[in-house]
Amino acid sequence: MKKCLICDSLIEPFVSFGRMPIANGFLQADQFQEEYFFELAAGFCPECTMVQLIEQPEPQKMFHENYAFYSSTSTRMAAHFQELAGRVKDSYMKSKDPFVVEIGSNDGITLRHFAAAGFRHLGVEPSANVAEAARKKGVQTVCQFFDENVAREILGAHGPADVFLGANVMCHISTLHSVVAGIKLLLKPEGVLIFEDPYLGDIIQKTSYDQIYDEHAFYFSLRSLTFLFERHGMEVIDVMPQDVHGGSMRYTVGRKGAHDIAGSVELLRERENALGLHDPATYHRLRENIERSRDELMNLLGKLKKQGSRVAGYGATSKSTTVINYCGITPELVEFIGDTTPIKQGKFSPGMHIPVRPYADFENNHPNFALLFAWNHVAEIMEKERQFLANGGRWIVYVPRVEIL
Ligand code: SAH
Ligand code: TMP
Ligand code: ZN
Repeated sequence: MKKCLICDSLIEPFVSFGRMPIANGFLQADQFQEEYFFELAAGFCPECTMVQLIEQPEPQKMFHENYAFYSSTSTRMAAHFQELAGRVKDSYMKSKDPFVVEIGSNDGITLRHFAAAGFRHLGVEPSANVAEAARKKGVQTVCQFFDENVAREILGAHGPADVFLGANVMCHISTLHSVVAGIKLLLKPEGVLIFEDPYLGDIIQKTSYDQIYDEHAFYFSLRSLTFLFERHGMEVIDVMPQDVHGGSMRYTVGRKGAHDIAGSVELLRERENALGLHDPATYHRLRENIERSRDELMNLLGKLKKQGSRVAGYGATSKSTTVINYCGITPELVEFIGDTTPIKQGKFSPGMHIPVRPYADFENNHPNFALLFAWNHVAEIMEKERQFLANGGRWIVYVPRVEIL
C-alpha cells in the first residue's frame, strides 16, 4: 500500500491504466528497444482527499534537455498567459522594484511580459531546451528543479518575492511540501502565490481521464489544497476557474490572515461538497466512466477500420499517451498524428509508436476522420480547420463523451 504524499495516510487506488510510457517521450525508431515503462494508476486519500499517482517516474526521466512541450506553440495559451501577466502586473507588482518568480516557466510564455516591462523576474525551469528558448526572449532563467533549497539560494541572490507564479507545474512535483515551504520562505509577508492546474472537478465531470499521466503527480481540489496549505500556515484567498487545458483552476494563496478571502472560495467549497470530491464512491464512478469511454472509443475505431475509413490523430499531446496506450490504439487504427511542434515531427508516439507527422501531411491528404487528441484546443482548431470539414472530414472526440461531431 502506498502512502499519501501530503498526509502520510494510506491511499486507496481507484484506477489503473496498465503499462505506460513517458507521456512526452516521443521517440525515434532506434530508441524503441530502450523505451521506459511504468505502471500508471491513481488513488484517493480518504484523509486529506488528495488524488494522486500511485507511482511517478523520477523527474529527470520527464524533464530534461529534450523536453517536447513548448508552451508557446498554442496561440490560445499565449493569450491566456498574457492576460495573467497583465493582471499580476496591475495588482501585485506595486512595491518599489518588485520581484516575480515563476517555476515551470518553460519557454518564457508568461515571464516575457515582465521582462519586456523591465520588472525584476526569475524563471526556474529544469528542462534545458525550453529554458534556453526563454533566455533567447530575454527572460532570466535558472535551469533547476525548484524546492526549498533552491528557494533559499534565490532568496540569498535576489531577496524576497512579491509574487510567485506556477502554471501547470505545482501538480507535477511530488515533493510538494518542500515546494510550498520554499515558496513561503521566498515570499514577502504580504506576497502571493498564484498558480493554476487542471481541476479535479472538471476531470470527474467530463471523464477527462487523459489528464492522468506521468507528469501529473496530483489532481487538485480546493479541499485537498486547503489541507496542504494549512500545514504551512497559508490559505487560499481566491479561486478562478479557467477555460484552458480542459478545465483548470487558478488559486491565489497568501500567508494565513494576511489577506481578505474572496467569496469565490466559499462558493467553490460548497460546489465540491455537492460534487462529492470527498467521497470514495465518486472515484469508483469515475473508474466506471473511464472504462465505458475506452470501450466506446475502441468500438468506434474498430467500426471505422472495418468500413475502410482513414483515421488520423490531431495533436500529439502528452494527454493522448494515456488514451492511446490504455485503449490500445495501434497505427492500424490511427495511421498518423499531425502536430505543429517541430521536435515531435518525424518521431513516433510513446508506447504504441504511431508516426507523428508535420501538419502539412494532414492538410495535403485529409483523412476521413480526425481523432481530436488536442480536444482542449477545440475552438482554436475548428476555426483553423474549416477546409477539413469542407472536404467532408469529420471530427472524433472522447471528452466529455465519445462522439463524431
Ligand atoms: N508553465 C508552462 C509549462 C507547463 S509544463 C505552461 O503552463 O504552459 C511543466 C513545466 O514544469 C515543464 O517545463 C517542466 O520542465 C517544469 N518543471 C517540472 N518540475 C519542476 C520543478 N521542480 N521546478 C520548476 N519547474 C519544473
Ligand atoms: P497540449 O494539449 O498539452 O497543450 O499540447 C498541444 C499539442 O497539440 C502540441 O503538441 C501542439 C499540438 N497542436 C497542433 O498540432 N495543432 C493545433 O492547432 C494546436 C492548438 C495544438
Ligand atoms: Zn492524504
